[in-house]
Amino acid sequence: MSPPLPARLRPLAEIDPEIARAIDHEVDRQARTLELIASENFVSEAVLQALGSVMTNKYAEGLPGKRYYGGCEFVDVAESLAIERAKKLFNAEHANVQAHSGSQANQAVYLTVLKPGDPLLGMSLAHGGHLTHGHPLNFSGRMYKIVSYGVKKDTETIDYDELERLAMEHRPKLIVAGASAYPRLLDFERFAAIAKKCETLLMVDIAHIAGLIAAGLHPSPFPHADFVTTTTHKTLRGPRGGAIFSKAQYAKDLDRNVFPCLQGGPLMHVIAAKAVCFQEALQPEFADYQKQIVLNAKVLAEVLAMEGFRIVSGGTDTHLMLVDVFSRQVTGKQAEQALERAGITVNKNAIPFDTNPPAIASGIRVGTPAVTSRGMQEPQMELIAHWISEVLNNLEDESVLKRVRSEVEALTEKFPLYENRRVAVAGKV
Ligand SMILES: Cc1ncc(COP(=O)(O)O)c(C=O)c1O
Repeated sequence: MSPPLPARLRPLAEIDPEIARAIDHEVDRQARTLELIASENFVSEAVLQALGSVMTNKYAEGLPGKRYYGGCEFVDVAESLAIERAKKLFNAEHANVQAHSGSQANQAVYLTVLKPGDPLLGMSLAHGGHLTHGHPLNFSGRMYKIVSYGVKKDTETIDYDELERLAMEHRPKLIVAGASAYPRLLDFERFAAIAKKCETLLMVDIAHIAGLIAAGLHPSPFPHADFVTTTTHKTLRGPRGGAIFSKAQYAKDLDRNVFPCLQGGPLMHVIAAKAVCFQEALQPEFADYQKQIVLNAKVLAEVLAMEGFRIVSGGTDTHLMLVDVFSRQVTGKQAEQALERAGITVNKNAIPFDTNPPAIASGIRVGTPAVTSRGMQEPQMELIAHWISEVLNNLEDESVLKRVRSEVEALTEKFPLYENRRVAVAGKV
C-alpha cells in the first residue's frame, strides 16, 4: 500500500468539506437559477483553469522584465500577453493589468492626477454612477471635493448641458464618465469637448460596457479619454479584477501609482486569467456574443414594457435596463426577494429621482450578459419577462412563485452551465 498523501496534496473535499460543500452548492445555484444581475457573468473553463493555477504562488512586484523577485520568467509571459492583448482589444496606447478590482483601478487614476481636496466631477450614484465616482462614504468622496452630475427628469438621460455648466463653474481636475446603472449610450465626444473647454482631464470608467466597446457595439472612449478604467468580470467575461488604460504620456506615472503606491504584489493567477479573457474577447465569436447580449436586453425590456412595467428612459441601448417596479406599487426590495424565491436573481436599484431610500428602492436592475453566456436568445427572454411579470403581480402567492421556480429550473436544464463541476447537492444533480 502506498503511503497516504500529505495534506498539501489531498483534495479539497477531504481537507475542508465545509468549503467544498459551499462551492458545490454555489455551482448548483448558478446552474439552476437565472442570473440577471447586470454586473455578473459566467467565465469560461479556460479562465477558471488559469485562475486556479500555481501562478497564485508567485510574488512579482514590479512589471514584466523589471521585478523585485527572482523566478518571474513565466509570470512575465502571462502579464506581457495580458498587456499586449488588452491594448490590441481596445486600441489603447498603454495598459496596466494589475489593478485588483475596478475600484482600485479608479483609485490609481485619482492618485495619478488628483491631490487630496481637488475637485472631481462624477455621476451621482443616485442617478446611475458608481460609489467610486464620489459617494460620501467611499474613499473618493472622503478624499476629494466632489461635484455630481445626473440625468434629466423628463428623459432620464444624462444632462450634458448641466454637466458643462457644473464643469465651467467648479473647474474639476478630473471629469469621470461611466456608470453602473445607466442603460443608454454615453456621448464620449461631448464629455471630451466639455473637458477640453474647461481644460481638465477625462477618465472614462467602462466597467460595465467594456465588452460592448470591444465588440464595436458602443462608441469607444479611447480616442477621447486621457484614462480609461474597467473591470474584467462584467460584459468582458473575465476573472474578477480591473485594468487601466492611459495615453502614453501618463504611462509611467500611472504604473507607479498602482505599484508601489496603491498595491503590493500583483495577483499573477488573475493576470493570467485576464490574458485568457482578452484573448477570448479578440475572437470573432465574442462580437456575436455581445450582439446577442444587446438584442436580448432589448427584447426583455420590450416585453416587460408590454406587460405594463415602466422602463427607465424608455428602453435600453446596452446590456442592462432599470425597471421602475414602484410604478406598479412594488418596491425594489420586494421585487428582488420575490424573484429570488422564483429562481430569478436581480438586484434592487434606485431609479433617478427615487422617492424610496436606497435600501428599499423603486427599481430593479436587470442585465443579460450571464443568461446570454448560457446560450439563451430572444424566445427565452420573452419567457423570462413573462415570469418576472407574473412574480411581481403575485408577490405573496407562494404557489405562483413555486410554479415559476420549477419552470425556471426546467429552462436552465436546457442551457447547462459547468456540468463537469456539478455534483449531487441535497439530492439534486
Ligand atoms: C462603473 C463601475 N466602476 C467600478 C466598479 C467597481 O468594481 P469592483 O467591484 O471590481 O471594485 C463597478 C462595480 O460594480 C462599476 O459598476
